[in-house]
Amino acid sequence: MPRHTAQASYTTRPLTTDTWGDFAALVEANNGVWGGCWCMGFHPAGFSGGSAEANRENKRALVQRGEVRQILVYDDEQCVGWCQFGTPTDLPNIKNPRAYDKDLDTLPDWRIGCVFTGKGHRRAGVARAAVSGVLEAVAAAGGGVVEAYPEQVESRAPQQGAYFHTGPESLFAELGFERCRRIAKWRWVMRRHVVPDPDARPG
Ligand SMILES: CC(C)(COP(=O)(O)OP(=O)(O)OC[C@H]1O[C@@H](n2cnc3c(N)ncnc32)[C@H](O)[C@@H]1OP(=O)(O)O)[C@@H](O)C(=O)NCCC(=O)NCCS
Repeated sequence: MPRHTAQASYTTRPLTTDTWGDFAALVEANNGVWGGCWCMGFHPAGFSGGSAEANRENKRALVQRGEVRQILVYDDEQCVGWCQFGTPTDLPNIKNPRAYDKDLDTLPDWRIGCVFTGKGHRRAGVARAAVSGVLEAVAAAGGGVVEAYPEQVESRAPQQGAYFHTGPESLFAELGFERCRRIAKWRWVMRRHVVPDPDARPG
């Protein structure tokens, strides 16, 4: 059953073999996302497939093996966006790795990979629902430190959506994340601690 979030009319579900078709329909409606990344960049295999078809099959194989943590957002029965998350081992390929490693103290328990909202559904709270759904999933999984790598929004010219594949900083700030350090001109490491949800069913 879909799970209702705090967002008015959206529901969220995890990406599993049951919801693969909904996810695939969203990706295909958006030209594979970036012409065929299929949200593989942060996973250990990255884009090693070398084509949109291979990326799709690599993503599907990960889902079939239960190795993907990704929250899908639904508007009624249509999947309109997602937020990917995982442990640093699940998602090793973050942007600006040298700058990240340079001043790294301790790795987080969780990190947020990419955020995506389908064209035609943007600026209506889908990403907010997706990241909120991730925070609920992290709480259900035992909580811990969650890290995100968003793009700064303020003090720069307006950006097209694609620049924000790790999300806009303002969204994470709104959801309680705080700046830790800068790893690129406009990209920040932000963290938030999530307390475990004592009522969550093990899952
Ligand atoms: C970035 C992105 C995920 C935002 O999704 P969204 O559903 O439109 O975001 P929301 O409506 O939930 O916005 C929440 C907040 O984020 C910020 N925000 C969202 N989009 C923004 C933009 N283009 N510019 C500045 N701030 C933005 C705002 O603070 C916004 O709150 P507000 O609308 O009350 O001002 C979307 O533009 C997108 O998918 N871009 C493409 C990313 C991509 O290529 N991902 C590939 C991953 S493989």
